[in-house]
Amino acid sequence: MKPYKVGLLGLGTVGTGVVRIVEGHQHHLMSQSGSPIEISKILVKDKSKARSISISEEKLTENPWDIIENPDIDVIIEVMGGIDQTKELILAALERGKHIVTANKDLMALHGPEILLKAAEHGCDVMYEASVAGGIPIIRTLIEGFSSDRITKIMGIVNGTTNYILSKMSQEGAAYDDVLKEAQQLGYAESDPTSDVEGFDAARKMTILGTLGFHANIALSDVSVKGISKVSKEDIAYGKKLGYEVKLLGIAERQDEHISISVQPTMVKQSHPLAAVNGVFNAVYIYGEAVGETMFYGPGAGEMPTATSVVADLVAVVRNSNLGINGRRGFVPYQEKKLKTDEQIASKNFILLHVEDKAGVLAQITQVFAEHEVSLESVLQHPNQTNPLAEIIIITHDANKASMNKVLKQFESMGAVHAIKSVYRVEG
Ligand code: NAP
Ligand code: HSE
Repeated sequence: MKPYKVGLLGLGTVGTGVVRIVEGHQHHLMSQSGSPIEISKILVKDKSKARSISISEEKLTENPWDIIENPDIDVIIEVMGGIDQTKELILAALERGKHIVTANKDLMALHGPEILLKAAEHGCDVMYEASVAGGIPIIRTLIEGFSSDRITKIMGIVNGTTNYILSKMSQEGAAYDDVLKEAQQLGYAESDPTSDVEGFDAARKMTILGTLGFHANIALSDVSVKGISKVSKEDIAYGKKLGYEVKLLGIAERQDEHISISVQPTMVKQSHPLAAVNGVFNAVYIYGEAVGETMFYGPGAGEMPTATSVVADLVAVVRNSNLGINGRRGFVPYQEKKLKTDEQIASKNFILLHVEDKAGVLAQITQVFAEHEVSLESVLQHPNQTNPLAEIIIITHDANKASMNKVLKQFESMGAVHAIKSVYRVEG
């Protein structure tokens, strides 16, 4: 039987896992896809680098065009990362009729529509299961599992590095900078961790999930993004006292065809299943009008979990080829994108203020909320341990973002309010 030939771009963490699975599960993969699968050529930056798997010298190349222009190669697996050069290679491969499997969320969040259009023009498959939440099959779940339902909310812990940091801060009372260093030493966070800790990695993943969930072309610039670098151990301790865990949540919501999408540290009620997701694990919570609440949990990164998703895409491409249906079932967003205004985005909020500890201050503060029609769920006051100020923690009922912004602006100019220490969205 003629083998299905793969060109692998990248032999790092994920690429190595792909080789292990393709070689180790050969019979299983052939039984499901209908063909033997062979990795013919592998692109690396440096052929002389030591590898943790044995690969014959002639399989490696440092020239991507050896793979893209090779007429024997049927499918390209892109696990090299990067954006501009990678996009050029993928578009060139599609023009030559090669199918694509990629784990690259940066590329798909920024250039997904252009790549999918090119694939449709050339009758090719483009699959990207590993681009969001590594080993959790969430993309196939959204496209196929929920095709019968109308999704109204997606909440995701989709960045393992930040979840590791926040879990450690919560469980050990550790400070952000110390845990970040540890995450870098363990290899979870990049040496430049900006994309993880400032929420950009999660925003790219939420762009992909929002597009699939709401059938509208969400752009990365539609996502409002705030990272975890300002989360203090005091915020986490106060949250815990009130029954919340701080999590970096991607939240995509739809109401009457209007969408909002954000990434931000969020106080999640301890009874909500997302509050129990700890360490480098990921989870995606999806609410559908018909199905109600669902949640998908698993490893969001790492060699073998991510490679599992990549190779599952490969099996789907080979199966489609054997059935002669490649490129027939591309995902086409059919809804016009309508974004919510700040008046339409509503949530509960947690606010920690440092205020003068004297008569009438609490009344002034609650008056500001009343003026902007923000209703309060609870108010808690503590004397501060280190200075003569009082700490006030307020949890609001659902309030729109525009009103909340007006409240906070008014606090900034109030003499009795010394600092707005923190503001969090509340979920659960
Ligand atoms: P990695 O360990 O840094 O590996 C990258 C591989 O690509 C290396 O083999 C490198 O060659 C090769 N490469 C990079 N740039 C190249 C270039 N310009 N020309 C030739 N070869 C090049 O990366 P990774 O962690 O496997 O991640 C790969 C992709 O998967 C990224 O898009 C990432 O976002 C995505 N992803 C990763 C994970 C994860 O857990 N790691 C999870 C989900 C998604 P050398 O080996 O010679 O240096
Ligand atoms: N840096 C990412 C994370 C890797 O921490 O989740 C997986 O995309």
